[in-house]
Amino acid sequence: MITYTKPPHPREYRLIFKNVDRVGWDPSIDCYLRDGGYQDLHKAVAMQPGNITAEVKKSGLRGRGGAGFPTGMKWTFIPSNNTKPVYLICNGDESEPGTFKDRYILHQDPHQLIEGMVITAYAVGAHTAYIYLREEFPAAARIMEQAIREARDRNFVGNNVLGSGFDVEIYVHRGAGAYICGEETGLIESLEGKRPYPRIKPPFFPAALGLYMCPTIVNNVETLCHVKHIVRMGGDAYANLGVARNTGTRILCVSGDVMTPGYFEVEVGKLTLRELLYDLCGGPKDGRAFKAVIPGGSSSKILRCDESFTLKNPDGSERQLAFWDIPLDFDTLAACGSMAGSGGVIVIDDSRKMSWVLNNLNAFYAHESCGQCTPCREGSAWMKKISDRMVTGDASPQDLATLESIAWQIDGRTVCAFGEASSWPVEAIIAKFRDELLADTQAANNGKPHNLEAKAQRLYLTHSSS
Ligand SMILES: Cc1cc2nc3c(=O)[nH]c(=O)nc-3n(C[C@H](O)[C@H](O)[C@H](O)COP(=O)(O)O)c2cc1C
Ligand code: SF4
Repeated sequence: MITYTKPPHPREYRLIFKNVDRVGWDPSIDCYLRDGGYQDLHKAVAMQPGNITAEVKKSGLRGRGGAGFPTGMKWTFIPSNNTKPVYLICNGDESEPGTFKDRYILHQDPHQLIEGMVITAYAVGAHTAYIYLREEFPAAARIMEQAIREARDRNFVGNNVLGSGFDVEIYVHRGAGAYICGEETGLIESLEGKRPYPRIKPPFFPAALGLYMCPTIVNNVETLCHVKHIVRMGGDAYANLGVARNTGTRILCVSGDVMTPGYFEVEVGKLTLRELLYDLCGGPKDGRAFKAVIPGGSSSKILRCDESFTLKNPDGSERQLAFWDIPLDFDTLAACGSMAGSGGVIVIDDSRKMSWVLNNLNAFYAHESCGQCTPCREGSAWMKKISDRMVTGDASPQDLATLESIAWQIDGRTVCAFGEASSWPVEAIIAKFRDELLADTQAANNGKPHNLEAKAQRLYLTHSSS
């Protein structure tokens, strides 16, 4: 019988987090092997690589890093006439605010990830694989290095894995601490030793033109762990978890204004926002009411708790869906104008002012823009300057209109999706909380200089024009 220091809620389904916070569990290979570890790799190397990809396609697995792209389909984008080396990269940057699931896997179950990676490398024909870790994960880097050594000693990694004739090496690579290194092409540039300026897509889709311009599969830590379970269960059985087109389990990371924040592994789409926030997270804090939720990491559009949505049924008819009844799956959240993203659910109660929330997000994106393209570089800093003024009471109603127009001009006009990541939260918060934000502005501030420097410039202009 498995026991945990944080017992799972009855609505949880522990597949990937089966060993996280498990009593008596440690990250060593001996512990992993005692629990049946690497059996799925034994099974995988006896299969044809193409059959593994076919099972992953059948499973319906969608990437857990943010975009929710079908994993098996991504693997098939490696050109069939390819003659270059193929690389596999595990994206362990975990930089999306609100997301903290990958760190648990790296710290507590490193061999689950290695097993998933070796199976994936075998399926896609990669002999070199990298685990790219954010700089802020030094402990994870040590644990993964140790786990790779242990796996190599037992012939799960290295030459002729388990006598199959398949060779693979796995290397840990640490970033220098930048959000943009989570974006797959920025990550690849960083891995090549360069400044992590994202590449434009097309043509630089990694599966065709990735690391060193060779086909490269980039998958998230959690996604790669799912692969070993798909091999064990078979694609069809895995697809029975979750709901149609949104299969398997996923780890939700809940932070913010709830009684019991933390991680929860659930079947995709089987839980509504009401069940998550009230049943699993214990409801709002004493005397407080829920106000809004950012459902998939800071880049996803905010949802108001009093909203409802008009959705299309498959037969073309329409139905109403209240916020509380939204099932947490990729498609429904997208239909409600937001996204499931990386699973980071940020909860905001009525003690929070939305100008503060907006400014907090703007500060993050202004700091993290890589600066390669003008709308993002200039716009993210400009948006922060305006929301700074909203927080201090120095903003005018015109500022809100300017802020909204800056966001529109970033959205869709940048090299990478960071542009949307920084502008969507602004667009959504303004659209949904306009009255509250306007109440934080004052018409008397219209045309006022915004800081001492602007004041001095204005004086100079006034004098020189007079
Ligand atoms: C600005 C930005 C930051 C991202 N950060 C991460 C991250 O920290 N971890 C991650 O797995 N994916 C991140 N992604 C998504 C990756 O680009 C990529 O889609 C993902 O690693 C693919 O893996 P998956 O298919 O398994 O989800 C980010 C994307 C953007 C645009
Ligand atoms: S959108 Fe922003 S983060 Fe992405 S490449 Fe352009 S400047 Fe860099």
